[in-house]
Amino acid sequence: MSVSDEDLNDELFERAQKSTPGGVNSPVRAFRQVGGVPRFITHAEGAFLFDANGRRYIDYVNSWGPAIVGHAHPEVVAAVATAATLGLSFGAPTEREIEMAEELCRLVPSMEQVRLVSSGTEAAMSAIRLARGATGRSRIVKFDGCYHGHADSLLVKAGSGLLTFKHPSSAGVPAEVVQHTTVLAYNNCQELEDTFAKLGDEIACVIVEPMAGNMNFVRGSAEFHDTLRALCTRHGSLLIFDEVMSGFRVALGGAQALYGITPDITVLGKVIGGGLPVAAFGASAGIMKNLSPLGPVYQAGTLSGNPVTLAAGLATLKLIQAPGFYDRLGARTRRLMEGLVTRARDEGIAFVADCEGGMFGFYFHDQLPSDLAGVQRADVERFKRFFHAMLERGVYLAPSAFEAGFVSAAHHDAVVDATLAAASEAFAALA
Ligand SMILES: Cc1ncc(COP(=O)(O)O)c(C=O)c1O
Repeated sequence: MSVSDEDLNDELFERAQKSTPGGVNSPVRAFRQVGGVPRFITHAEGAFLFDANGRRYIDYVNSWGPAIVGHAHPEVVAAVATAATLGLSFGAPTEREIEMAEELCRLVPSMEQVRLVSSGTEAAMSAIRLARGATGRSRIVKFDGCYHGHADSLLVKAGSGLLTFKHPSSAGVPAEVVQHTTVLAYNNCQELEDTFAKLGDEIACVIVEPMAGNMNFVRGSAEFHDTLRALCTRHGSLLIFDEVMSGFRVALGGAQALYGITPDITVLGKVIGGGLPVAAFGASAGIMKNLSPLGPVYQAGTLSGNPVTLAAGLATLKLIQAPGFYDRLGARTRRLMEGLVTRARDEGIAFVADCEGGMFGFYFHDQLPSDLAGVQRADVERFKRFFHAMLERGVYLAPSAFEAGFVSAAHHDAVVDATLAAASEAFAALA
């Protein structure tokens, strides 16, 4: 009996749902926002993913950001294999941890010291604890549409009206836990000014994605960042740049290098692990000295600074420092976005796009958004149809209208051309 195209993904999805809630280990993978059956991936190489049916897709998710040099890059794989033969984890310090810390501090000069952890969630959560410990204050400010992992105090949605009591955005988070979290609109300088005027002395830190990638792709304006920096400095609050996504993605030094802003604490993840679980947070030595074992702010991890994951990260950091790496990556991403805009408009479809380095976003709308409300005005139904039209044509986009996309160094011109050819057909089908 011949097996139809989707059968093996269907079968695996059915089986997965019996042993795992929703069949996935991270919700967006379940395709709930776009409908249909998730593709179960057997392997990946360069710009491509291969699913259980042996079907090949051009991948614009890239593991949600880490795979910046392309999947299974031979130098990264070799570094991991070599490290693995020497032992998987020691629970004692290694020279590789020093190398990673030195490399990160050299590339992101706002940090004099870093602490390595295993996920972006852990890094952001620890950065906030550090900020609270260092300032002796409780309140944190975050922005609607920015995601910093799933620590309890960050799972808050904006209430109606400025400074009102905020509501947990997940069951299992008591209202008391988020009472010190203030949520503001992204890119809104007036709300920031008003909040600091009222609560400035209570604010331990402001945490922000300087280029947001968790409400699709939205850039923070220069004015927004300047205001953030000035207000935090004036009120003795710490500015945390969560560059888990933008770090080593939009530029070698992250968004802070592009904007020329020096945050007090930086949070990193994704690219620095090259596809294995590594994240970090760092700051000046003065701030970092508050951290255990030097100071009173506790933080620890059994697998922190793992030798195998760091081997993948260090190999990746070496590759992205090749001359012209970000120029080439940025040029390809721009060509992809410009090509999509032209093709959509040829079909009379309202469509806008933006990108920086290897990160992009597009909207079925006539103007680029500056905050979550703007993102929500785009046509999600049209996005869903486009997503499936592209998937059918072998292009794997993020299965949500609220996620950024990623291009890797393996997305050569021919790959971008093939994507644009698929997009022409998909837009025509939509129109
Ligand atoms: C900006 C940002 N911060 C934190 C996180 C959480 O990282 P992780 O999924 O590794 O816990 C993410 C994940 O997408 C992120 O994009």
